Amino acid sequence: MEAKFNHHLLSCIFLLFLLNPFQCFSSSYPSHQISTPQTPSPLDYLKSLIGTKKGTRAKGLPQLKTYLSNLGYMKTNTNSTNSDQSNNDLFNDNLEIALKKYQTFFKLQTSGILDFQTVSKLLQPRCGIPDNFDNIKNTNDNNKINSTIMSSLYTYFPGQPKWAPTKRNLTYSFPPITRNDIRRPIANALGEWARVTLFTFRYIQDYNKADIKISFQVRDHGDGHPFDGPGGTLAHAYLPSDGRLHYDGDEKWVDGVVPGATDLQTVGLHELGHVLGLQHSTDPSSIMWPTIGPGFRKDLGQDDIRGIKALYGFP
Ligand SMILES: *[C@@H]1O[C@H](CO)[C@@H](O)[C@H](O)[C@H]1NC(C)=O
Ligand SMILES: *[C@@H]1O[C@H](CO)[C@@H](O)[C@H](O)[C@H]1NC(C)=O
Ligand SMILES: *[C@@H]1O[C@H](CO)[C@@H](O)[C@H](O)[C@H]1NC(C)=O
Ligand SMILES: [Zn+2]
Ligand SMILES: [Zn+2]
Repeated sequence: MEAKFNHHLLSCIFLLFLLNPFQCFSSSYPSHQISTPQTPSPLDYLKSLIGTKKGTRAKGLPQLKTYLSNLGYMKTNTNSTNSDQSNNDLFNDNLEIALKKYQTFFKLQTSGILDFQTVSKLLQPRCGIPDNFDNIKNTNDNNKINSTIMSSLYTYFPGQPKWAPTKRNLTYSFPPITRNDIRRPIANALGEWARVTLFTFRYIQDYNKADIKISFQVRDHGDGHPFDGPGGTLAHAYLPSDGRLHYDGDEKWVDGVVPGATDLQTVGLHELGHVLGLQHSTDPSSIMWPTIGPGFRKDLGQDDIRGIKALYGFP
């Protein structure tokens, strides 16, 4: 039932770093110039969209609209009785507005065009949990992005859900059968959060009784937010006080820094931030920044620590 509410599920997709800082904005970039991850990505359709702008039609645009909707950048576009459906391959006003929001969040040029840098960013694996645009939704003119709001860093979920004051000693668990190399990364990630908060985390064997339930899931796994195979979305988690944290079992996971594989601890640290009540940050050095590359480990940043302390009033 909760899966019906988009904000309820926080998924995180981590994306590859593909950007070459010296690339210019060009609508004529041949798609083969985008360096590709080792494995095909469910987002590969984006490569044919470079240079697309308002008023044009393209085959991949319906998919892009769905993707941006899932990330909170535009209203969902899947109503089959809606007359707009026949125009789903049209780059319309709404898509341009969504792209400008996206470009603002990721500090790209806010052209509203699917330029090379925007497509490269979109291709990066990232957290599937929507980015927080609540503030922007409240403005009268969707075209005007309030740069004061956008420069705020950590964010919370709408209504700022958090664990009750009686819940400071949280338990966590894994299903009876799980990959063993998840235990150490999760213990480390929980240790990082414990050091900067008044939370404690204790492992218990009884999965069903645990406050935080950590599991690997693939494709459609019954919560209304199917994973997408290798690449794309890497994990998602639920906001307080649900406690579910799902890794995409189709990814190439590793405990550590290995080229081409994604670090269980880094993604766990990010997803546990959602479990505790943080949404995405616009600070690229924070763990709550929505994207991260493979072959990479990241720890908590000052922005994450400020965010969690402010949410709970911790000293
Ligand atoms: C789909 O569109 C029709 C016509 O615009 C509208 O009446 C209906 O409520 C919409 N359904 C959903 C689920 O949004
Ligand atoms: C942007 O948001 C901030 C914080 O809510 C507000 O103080 C400021 O007036 C807004 N600026 C514009 C141009 O709307
Ligand atoms: C958490 O555990 C500590 C140590 O056992 C205890 O002092 C504290 O009261 C507990 N906190 C809550 C909210 O139950
Ligand atoms: Zn996330
Ligand atoms: Zn799930």
